[in-house]
Amino acid sequence: MPSVSEILETMDYGPAPEATGEVAKWLSARGAFGHYIGGRFTEAGETFDVANPATGELLARVTQGTGADVQAAVKAARAALPGWSKLPGHDRARHLYALARHIQKRERFLAVLETLDNGKPIRETRDIDVPLAARHFYHHAGWAEMLEDEFPGRGPVGVCGQIIPWNFPLLMLAWKIAPALAAGNTVVLKPAEYTPLTALAFAEICAEVGLPKGVVNIVTGDGATGAALVAAEVDKIAFTGSTEVGRAIRKATAGSGKKLTLELGGKSPFVVFADADIDGAVEGVVDAIWFNQGQVCCAGSRILVQEGVAREFTERLAARMAKLRVGDPLDKSTDMGAIVDPVQLRRIRDLVARGEAEGAVLHQAECRLPAKGSFFAPGFFTDVAPANIVSEVEIFGPVATLTTFRTPEEAVELANNTRYGLAASIWSENINLALDVASRVRAGVVWVNATNVFDAAAGFGGYRESGFGREGGREGLGEYLADAKIKAKADPAPPPPETAPLREAPGVADPIDRTAKLYVGGAQKRPDSGYSYAVRGKAGVIGLAGLGNRKDIRNAVEAAHKAAGWGKATGHNRAQVLYYLAENLAARAAEFAARLKSAGGPKPAEEVAAAIRRAFWYAAQADKFDGAVHSTKSAHVTLAMPEPFGVMGIVCPTGAPLLGFVSLVLPAIAMGNRVVAVPSQAMPLAATDLYQVFDTSDLPGGVVNIVTGPRDELARTLAAHDDVAAIWYSGDADGTRMVEEESAGNLKVTWSVAHRDWSGPEGQGRSFLTRATQVKNIWVPYGE
Ligand code: NAI
Repeated sequence: MPSVSEILETMDYGPAPEATGEVAKWLSARGAFGHYIGGRFTEAGETFDVANPATGELLARVTQGTGADVQAAVKAARAALPGWSKLPGHDRARHLYALARHIQKRERFLAVLETLDNGKPIRETRDIDVPLAARHFYHHAGWAEMLEDEFPGRGPVGVCGQIIPWNFPLLMLAWKIAPALAAGNTVVLKPAEYTPLTALAFAEICAEVGLPKGVVNIVTGDGATGAALVAAEVDKIAFTGSTEVGRAIRKATAGSGKKLTLELGGKSPFVVFADADIDGAVEGVVDAIWFNQGQVCCAGSRILVQEGVAREFTERLAARMAKLRVGDPLDKSTDMGAIVDPVQLRRIRDLVARGEAEGAVLHQAECRLPAKGSFFAPGFFTDVAPANIVSEVEIFGPVATLTTFRTPEEAVELANNTRYGLAASIWSENINLALDVASRVRAGVVWVNATNVFDAAAGFGGYRESGFGREGGREGLGEYLADAKIKAKADPAPPPPETAPLREAPGVADPIDRTAKLYVGGAQKRPDSGYSYAVRGKAGVIGLAGLGNRKDIRNAVEAAHKAAGWGKATGHNRAQVLYYLAENLAARAAEFAARLKSAGGPKPAEEVAAAIRRAFWYAAQADKFDGAVHSTKSAHVTLAMPEPFGVMGIVCPTGAPLLGFVSLVLPAIAMGNRVVAVPSQAMPLAATDLYQVFDTSDLPGGVVNIVTGPRDELARTLAAHDDVAAIWYSGDADGTRMVEEESAGNLKVTWSVAHRDWSGPEGQGRSFLTRATQVKNIWVPYGE
């Protein structure tokens, strides 16, 4: 310890470590931990060691969960479900308030335990992780109170399996457990193997506050335990972690009917314009990439700086980096603590070495790192080629890349040049420019002149390969509520298409039917196969449809991408087109009814009338379905904006060939998506006839593309297509499984749409619009 006169000489910080006595006592009293199942701790089984990453010292031994342990926990959660879900919302709210209070009561204890287990500085656990965890329980206690009023007709999903990572152990637990419990679900949560201790402390809190037994169960273990939970009889899986494991979970749950949310990795852009407050932006980098040792899924790890200020920014950044204090995480003046585990440290070292070997220049602080423990000095790369490994792969450590751009267009292009889409941070004093870029960046969360700001009232989650679903606020709560029940109708699989070369349909009078074309990019196109298939009505063949194949789907997706202007049109513009479409459909109602009649449809005139009304309804919604301004932190506007996915695939039911098609395609385009639709395989003509209606309604070419043919083959191509962002599939169980499996490639959003009485209230509603959009949360701070 330096003397006072030495300190006055050097003006160095003196160490100010947080005391660990209480936590040490707690740990040693428990020895080895079992799981928390059905309201009590089990005997420890086979254990693994949990170490302090800052020292390498053993903290605790924790049980490796077996398949049987997971089964027991799921059984306990299942047994607790009826009681918990039937409690009045107010009673559940009281339990959540009690959890929040107890977290607050043990704030210091939890902060120290988290720091020991994870290696992050005490300043972060004390000021961010633990208070936010408490805030999450308070916020969701409020939702429990209001659930019946705010979400009429919706109830819990059931038993939720929740798997969390090691970077925000207690906070991620709160993000998962608070909304689940508020909505009336029961849970089995598996913390990460590196950081299970605060979850076990939380289990004790559950017991202390008298939470009914089995409502929260904690099973510890590694990926194998996680995989067992995914495979167990749960109704939902919520996962946060790597994209690789997220993809495996998507495949493992395909066709199971389990509801799924994935919050995965990112490679988020941090965009600095020349007119930014440079010091503010430099401080932003500290928060974006050096905060939590860069082990943050939404870390702004790709710094993009406008050329004019690049030099100045880089110099100031290097100067600021040199001042960061790396070391004992328990010291209150430490800025950066330890990397969570030696495995993760090796991973960071390897990636950084490869980045350098591939030609990038590493700037790294010359700080003295502690002799033991897993530490890595903060740094950033310049001269990074786009193909360099560090440009593409998430380092998940305290090292960013820094590249320059010239124009806002280039900034947007670079920002979006990634498979991920979790977050973005944009720095400019020009609100016009900042919001313009915010609207064009493909990310679920955008911070303007800020970074890594979180609050329980705002949704958090990604676009693209960063996963789907939101956590936090109303959006997040929706993920823990079952959809309103509908009466599903059987929809028989269509017979295999009877194919024939094009133009060889005897007795087909109508020239369009005779040529059997697809509708792609606003024009009729011959199918690539050169074949058509017979469409049968009651009295035999009534027409021909093109036999579409993969190539046709690919062409249609390309055409849909070219129609990107539709997504930028105002809601009013889209409404005008949809009104016009409704009117034009009405003008030809008799023709469509005759077509449906020839196909043997049960109530042709009614089906057409309902389709017309539907078009008016979605026209009306086009400029009304909108977002929210969330009540989060003071001096912040947090805008929740529903945005279209971009290109969607829609595979329509066999029955209700006109109304099923219209009921799915119209909400999607009303929200600004472009669609590649596969109409009813048995009766596609009701949909292909619509091309004339589209043409006369000023619907821009490429907004709706129709590819007829074998439903499941076409669905497979759509589901596997990397440029399709979402797919709705109405078909059988095998088809659903196939679509969900194939969608794992780019982690597209899927919806398995049950065939139903499309003419009734279940055929239309805001839920379709919610399904057709993804929410972007934009944070704009104001004031000083
Ligand atoms: P991971 O994805 O392997 O682990 C996250 C959680 O999933 C842990 O609880 C783990 O036990 C569990 N898990 C692992 N395999 C599983 C499986 N097959 N089925 C079910 N659960 C499974 O992440 P890991 O290995 O800890 O970190 C590797 C990389 O993942 C990091 O370097 C980082 O790039 C990324 N990552 C992203 C996070 C985020 O917040 N989005 C958090 C942690 C890691």
